Amino acid sequence: MKKRFKILLVAGARPNFMKIAPVYFELKKHPEFRPIIVHTGQHYDKEMSSFFFRDLQLPKPDIYLGVGSGTHAEQTARIMVAFEQVCIKKKPELVVVVGDVNSTIACALTAVKLFIPVAHIEAGLRSFDRTMPEEINRLLTDQISDYLFTTCDDANKNLLREGVSEEKIFFVGNVMIDTLRKHLNLARTIKMCKKLGLKERKYGILTLHRPSNVDDERVLQNIMDGISEVSKYLPIVFPIHPRTDQRFDNITFLNYDREFNKGIMFINPLGYLEFLSLMSDARFVLTDSGGIQEETTILGIPCLTLRNNTERPITIKQGTNVLVGNDKERIIKEARRIIKSSEFKPQIPELWDGNAAERVVKILFSKFISPAS
Ligand code: UD1
Repeated sequence: MKKRFKILLVAGARPNFMKIAPVYFELKKHPEFRPIIVHTGQHYDKEMSSFFFRDLQLPKPDIYLGVGSGTHAEQTARIMVAFEQVCIKKKPELVVVVGDVNSTIACALTAVKLFIPVAHIEAGLRSFDRTMPEEINRLLTDQISDYLFTTCDDANKNLLREGVSEEKIFFVGNVMIDTLRKHLNLARTIKMCKKLGLKERKYGILTLHRPSNVDDERVLQNIMDGISEVSKYLPIVFPIHPRTDQRFDNITFLNYDREFNKGIMFINPLGYLEFLSLMSDARFVLTDSGGIQEETTILGIPCLTLRNNTERPITIKQGTNVLVGNDKERIIKEARRIIKSSEFKPQIPELWDGNAAERVVKILFSKFISPAS
């Protein structure tokens, strides 16, 4: 049999899994490609990892590096050391990385130093805030990648401005939205809100995990005071990220008793389908996540982003996103406005149509398998 083109598909943290899934399934349609899933183990709790493989029907990772948590340097270095051995042993023809987490830069950097070409999916997004670890990961990954797949025109412009050659940039759309569109009907049947005793459009959701929001006690206290006020108007479901969970355990002056604070419902992190279900029936979402800004744009659910900047300005220009920062009064004001206002119709950003992974694979096919096609 003809030798198949070996591609290492790297995923490490929760938001990566829904980005590699459509690319994996698309690659599998072509016998010429041999996709190998490498999970770095950056996220390892079942709620942060294996639930997503289950929900997305991804096979178990072919290779699990099990690096776990640590400081940035520890985690990035451990991924690099382990991934280098994988590259040496497997000799892939291409490494595909997604998003902006530590696994993304670690594996991209390891691969290029072994002269293995790198493709970066979701390239070119910029918050212009270098205090965010993700911004550093994005900037560096894009500089060393050979194929940069982008979700929007802002990203194309950012890359060109940074001197990336035009031939490397491919505007393909949004692979995470491929996954959302594929699973939305199934997710809608779950009715997660009912399971939590809530009615459609009669609750909000909170997600919080950015170090800039949760690592400083005063900032976290301020945000939670705002949310607590908002929860007097509408109950707020709060699937709590492990980083944030630890802060609540450690901070004694935060007066949030998970059992008795009726307005805010603390729950464990949800799987992909359960969270999509919960989001699709919500009145609004309060979040500091990147991906949720995009998902709410497609769902038409108002998104109040608890940050002062975003690397996804298209979700403000065309979607449902509003930046509210982390100031208590602003959070209360914007949430009240959303609760009172009638629904609005966002535009769907160009190429967020469910076919982004197909475009990615078509390009890879034309570059590596059949240059003439
Ligand atoms: C990481 C990404 C961030 C992404 C987020 C999504 C980086 C720099 N950050 O942030 O961009 O938005 O994932 O969730 O890559 N922990 C567990 N169980 C797990 C994973 C983590 O308990 O399965 C705890 C550990 O104590 C760990 C902490 O959460 O120290 C933070 O995890 P880490 O992967 O370092 O960063 P995130 O905040 O999850």
